[in-house]
Amino acid sequence: MQDIKDRLKNLKKTIQEHDHAYYLLDDPLISDHEYDSLFQELKKIESENPHLITPDSPTQRVGGRPLDEFKQITHKKPMLSLGNAFGNDELNAFYKRVTETLDITDIEFSAELKFDGLAISLFYEEGVLKYAATRGDGLVGEDVTHNIKTMKVIPLRLRSDNPPKILELRGEVLMNKEDFLELNEQQKKQDLKVFANPRNAAAGSLRQLDPAVTAKRKLQFFAYGLGEVDTSVHFDYHSQMIDFIESLGVPVSKYSEIVQNNIEMEAYFQKILGQRNALPFDIDGIVFKVNSIKSQNNLGFVSKAPRWAIAYKFPAEEAETIVNDITVQVGRTGAITPVARLKPVFVSGVTVTNATLHNEDEMNRKDIRIGDSVIVRRAGDVVPEVVRVILEKRPNHAIKFTMPKQCPICGSDIERIDGEAAQRCTGQYKCNAQIKQGISHFISRKAMNIDGLGEKIVDQLFEQGMLKNIADIYKLDFAVIENMDRFGKKSVENLKESIEISKKTTLGKFIYALGIRNVGEATSKELAAYFRSLDNLFNATVEDYLMVNDIGPVVAESLVKYFHNANNQQIINSIIASGISWPTLKEINAINSKLNNQTFVVTGTLNSFSRDEIKDLIEANGGKVSGSVSKKTSYVIVGDNPGSKADKASELGVPIITEINLMEMLND
Ligand code: IVH
Repeated sequence: MQDIKDRLKNLKKTIQEHDHAYYLLDDPLISDHEYDSLFQELKKIESENPHLITPDSPTQRVGGRPLDEFKQITHKKPMLSLGNAFGNDELNAFYKRVTETLDITDIEFSAELKFDGLAISLFYEEGVLKYAATRGDGLVGEDVTHNIKTMKVIPLRLRSDNPPKILELRGEVLMNKEDFLELNEQQKKQDLKVFANPRNAAAGSLRQLDPAVTAKRKLQFFAYGLGEVDTSVHFDYHSQMIDFIESLGVPVSKYSEIVQNNIEMEAYFQKILGQRNALPFDIDGIVFKVNSIKSQNNLGFVSKAPRWAIAYKFPAEEAETIVNDITVQVGRTGAITPVARLKPVFVSGVTVTNATLHNEDEMNRKDIRIGDSVIVRRAGDVVPEVVRVILEKRPNHAIKFTMPKQCPICGSDIERIDGEAAQRCTGQYKCNAQIKQGISHFISRKAMNIDGLGEKIVDQLFEQGMLKNIADIYKLDFAVIENMDRFGKKSVENLKESIEISKKTTLGKFIYALGIRNVGEATSKELAAYFRSLDNLFNATVEDYLMVNDIGPVVAESLVKYFHNANNQQIINSIIASGISWPTLKEINAINSKLNNQTFVVTGTLNSFSRDEIKDLIEANGGKVSGSVSKKTSYVIVGDNPGSKADKASELGVPIITEINLMEMLND
């Protein structure tokens, strides 16, 4: 038996070494055939001795069964974001802030690529990969261990005889541009979804319930930092930490450099900007981090981002094309937006065919006409827009576009509200465009998150009279849908499941899903935390709404109009009758464990709770409330006019959150 165990250990180590040589160093040590025989031998021993299979065995990379849903993982330390600098002035301001706060001038910065992928946490215990999670909202992410394990560039066991007991790596998963193009080719051939850009492809590949699909996708990973670590892990410099991570067999970026000041920062930025297109993967800027960890600690954090780092973003990419036509689009709230239909042009990795002209004033200010040559710009996921017209190229036949007086969809009058740039269709519940857009918004990811109802399908169901409003989503007749175009047994099953899952939501998401004019995601969360029940929202007056953080008269007016409308009340009641629910405060209290082992300090005036109430809430969920901030504090909850406790938290690097964030932690 000992012989078998030794051979197994040896095989696992050898295969891991070959994976490292092949995938990370691009320098295979043996032939594919030799590698295969080692792998087969390992598989054979394991199948004869299943009790000896360990999670770090290379055979366990693809093996798991498809999951029903993603589990949630609370990050041991929040995954923060970065402050942005657009342009040299903002970069200089960052540099000035850092030098002045630290009161020294010779500061080293680590200059790194800002990868345009998705942030991942890899949790290693005793050197073995225990779990992997997406960033999620920074506090709670999704468990994607089964998919991460299929990525050969990520070691299942760290290359060290004496690995730290606990080591959480943070980094970015991405897809090379070449692999993205190839994937889309294959997807097209199989009539499957094509991805808009490599980041979406990487995210789509990781958020797969079936690891066998992820295993087929070529994904890369680069570590750029650490999360939770045990006390043995200590570094004086960020660059030392990265070298250490690399020594463990984990990929790190080859492009990082140390720079000494803002002049060298700008030079690095310009150099990489010049190489950007030739890089194998997409980046959207440069990250500068103060290299000394001691200085990092001195600088601390502001809200959710460190003061010791900045993302210096690349300017949005631009391209020239022609306006073939201008049409109008009717939005969810009836807003009429002129849209330029463009000769297709490739910008920042996607083919752009439409660009928003925002509104009539904006279109006239830029004097955009049909037939014009224009410069279009696309930044990240933002809708492309026309930057300017190339007047020298304006043809004689260029035509000025006049906005319609009637809605092109429902024929209702279009009105322009005084003081607003937007024009709106007055059709509301009569306007099919508004209803369809409202349905699409309701099912979107940040709202009820229902998969399987794309725009074309919503159109189709709407035309057939099966989906007349958002409440109908929960009354769909799946037997009929199964026989419709674009549907098969499997996709109907998925849709059914997705609709079922959506029934368990949070009050904030539900309010956002309703698509009330002027009420976005953040306002919806504020409303949920303040009113805590739908009844309270229905019964509120303008004055009540005005009590909520950040809500002014315009939003309060929208809310009253929406909740006092009989049609809306009927739709909402019908949805609730279909079984939609969210945890009420009582149930949140009953969960009792979400905040286990976490200590909170409260400072400033809270909006939704008295001090006693928030204390009860935290304690009922297993957390503790303390009067002073120390390194052991998990979170500091700040209200209005916070005291010195907030500064102390920044100094010690203790995350600062709001009462809304706390509600989210409890609700999610
Ligand atoms: S450091 C506290 N380094 O940018 C510092 N982030 O807005 C946290 N990102 O979600 C991140 N390249 O996914 C860091 N070299 C890099 C990065 C990087 C890309 C992403 C990361 C994060 C976002 C921050």
